Amino acid sequence: MPGGSCAVALAAVADRPAERLQSLTGMRDVLWPESARRRELVDRFVGTASAAGYREVVPPLLEDLRVFLRVGEATDVVTKEMYEFTDRDGTRVALRPELTAGVVRAFVQHRPLTPWKVFYTGSNFRHERPQKGRYRSFDQVGIEAIGSDDADLDVEVIALAWRFFEDIGLTEVQLLLNTLGEHDDRARYTEAVRGHLGAHRDSLSEAARTTLERNPLRVLDSRRPEDRAAVATAPTIAEFLSPAASQHFARVKEGLEALGIPYTIDERLVRGLDYYRRTTFEFAAMALDAAQNAIGGGGRYDGLAESMGGKPTDGIGFALGVDRMLLAADAESVFEAPEAHLDAFVVDLTGGAAARDITHELRAAGISADRRFDPGSMKSQMKAADRSGAGHAVIVGEDELAAGEVTVRVLRGHSDTAGESVQERVRRQDLVAHLQQRR
Ligand code: HAM
Repeated sequence: MPGGSCAVALAAVADRPAERLQSLTGMRDVLWPESARRRELVDRFVGTASAAGYREVVPPLLEDLRVFLRVGEATDVVTKEMYEFTDRDGTRVALRPELTAGVVRAFVQHRPLTPWKVFYTGSNFRHERPQKGRYRSFDQVGIEAIGSDDADLDVEVIALAWRFFEDIGLTEVQLLLNTLGEHDDRARYTEAVRGHLGAHRDSLSEAARTTLERNPLRVLDSRRPEDRAAVATAPTIAEFLSPAASQHFARVKEGLEALGIPYTIDERLVRGLDYYRRTTFEFAAMALDAAQNAIGGGGRYDGLAESMGGKPTDGIGFALGVDRMLLAADAESVFEAPEAHLDAFVVDLTGGAAARDITHELRAAGISADRRFDPGSMKSQMKAADRSGAGHAVIVGEDELAAGEVTVRVLRGHSDTAGESVQERVRRQDLVAHLQQRR
């Protein structure tokens, strides 16, 4: 926002009582324990991708608008949903609606050795109509492998996502697979679909008629009942595939079969972004409502580097929706939030200085520890200790303080003896060793 309008906005609120501010429509705060679950999911993904030789790339959230125009000037993501604005220096910029375009821009800019195998995690922004599983700010994890047109790389990429779903416990996932052919195959196919749908124009929904003008293939994705008949009789890509594209696709299918990854061919799968060529795929969570059941998708984008001023370079990747995978995990009752864990919670009945010093000392020794501030009664501090999920309470009363000791009590749920609380007096200087031994 230019400085002037910001100052005007500030002046306008200066005299009014403060309003209770809210997050924007379609944007959410993720609080603990849900945040712990997301963190765990992302960490697991990082583990899976790293173990297959992918290294992290962190592109900026904000890019030159032209980077995203390459995603497809005929797609809703670009024309209707992008958060774009003019920066203070007059540059047209946009918040990223996805990560592939930024990663390919980085590839063209830095010219790393190929194949460049990278993974990423982070937020994206699309001004969509919010609903369950569809937000304006959402997180993805994903990979891109740039610089090889080997069909076995398509298999590796798909297998990596598949293994990740298994790792987090999702079992009801369907892999939908298609090919859009080479650039020319796709162009001829698009014209054939345009012709076919044009002949059925009168029966199409209003929305499909508008989409038909800009992007005929997207009409194939329509779930509107009026469009069903025309879509069902539309030509399929199979009739337009060049021998090279057919061979590539055959090798991908053969590879998936060899690895025991079941797939369903979906000839209507065109995906929402324009850069795809050859292999395209989507993962549908069968436990979710059909409208929002795509938990991830991807494909090859062999023309993207070139469109950003680089040499023609092949690439393939996918992005998985973090929010949607967690919804799918809820629906399958898997991947619960990890339990909060602390080694010790310090309960100080002597004024707080002992808690201050002991928590510091324990943390420095690598023992996780917390305490309560504004210390209250023994009862309220013990309640806080229980709530913290700590294994032990380290209690300092006047008695212990005078004797240079502490009482270590094993907290409920952590004791070996059912229900009973076990406690012992430990010399202050032995506390670290004592807790280390008990871990
Ligand atoms: P995409 O299909 O647009 O592909 O998004 C991938 C996944 O992100 C979706 O399957 C969905 O799970 C999640 N997602 C998308 N939009 C939203 C939203 N508004 N709210 C919640 N989740 C959402 C891409 O982004 C491509 N960059 C994938 C790719 C990588 N292709 C090649 N490489």
